[in-house]
Amino acid sequence: MATLLRIDASARHTRSLTRMMSDHFLHTWHRTTSDLKVIERDVGLYPPTPISESWIDAAFTPIDRRTNEQRAQLETSDRLIDELDRSDVILMATPMYNYGLPASLKAWVDQIVRVGKTFTFDLSRGDRPLEPIFSGKTLAILTATGEFGFGAGGINADADHLVPHIRTISKYLGAESLHHIGIEYQEFADHRFEKSKADALTSVELLAQKLAELSMTHQTVS
Ligand SMILES: Cc1cc2nc3c(=O)[nH]c(=O)nc-3n(C[C@H](O)[C@H](O)[C@H](O)COP(=O)(O)O)c2cc1C
Repeated sequence: MATLLRIDASARHTRSLTRMMSDHFLHTWHRTTSDLKVIERDVGLYPPTPISESWIDAAFTPIDRRTNEQRAQLETSDRLIDELDRSDVILMATPMYNYGLPASLKAWVDQIVRVGKTFTFDLSRGDRPLEPIFSGKTLAILTATGEFGFGAGGINADADHLVPHIRTISKYLGAESLHHIGIEYQEFADHRFEKSKADALTSVELLAQKLAELSMTHQTVS
């Protein structure tokens, strides 16, 4: 049975486009097969704590030398990493806030990307000493933006610090297969927004169905 980690990052509980997309994704998956375990991690409503100096000290202290306080410092991180470790598919639904990640999602990333847990660090590898530990996962990124044209060649292409950031981080999540679907124009509330929303929901449905079918044959799709 496949395990899916659902991450919602919108600070809005109601009227959230990204939550609507992740609901739609799961609804479609369940219609295709009931064979799915879902782990829910709502960072929008329950943001992880930002990391601190003592967190960094604890993370860089060898495991056998950690004090009880240091172990306690890393409990949230351990739990979040365990959820990631157990997942085959990561469903990440996130708004664009100020052209980048919501702070709550960035806090989740900072809790997850940790030496010895999600990456190894070895200077003998030369100029690229970091290597991810997890592999073989599928990441589906669902976004919503008020403005538009964040894709290649669009009028705001150079202002997108959301999806490129997630793409960069994705290797430390173990994601080898990436998909992105976005709703644009939310702030314009016109026919372009309605079309973008309808197109995105269709794409979400097709993707969820495809991934659900592949999960039954234990394959990943790129
Ligand atoms: C605090 C805040 C910052 C935002 N910053 C941007 C932005 O930089 N660019 C943009 O296109 N939209 C921006 N928006 C619009 C949101 O991306 C848009 O409303 C989106 O639908 C929010 O996702 P949600 O519907 O799931 O809550 C911002 C909205 C909020 C509330």
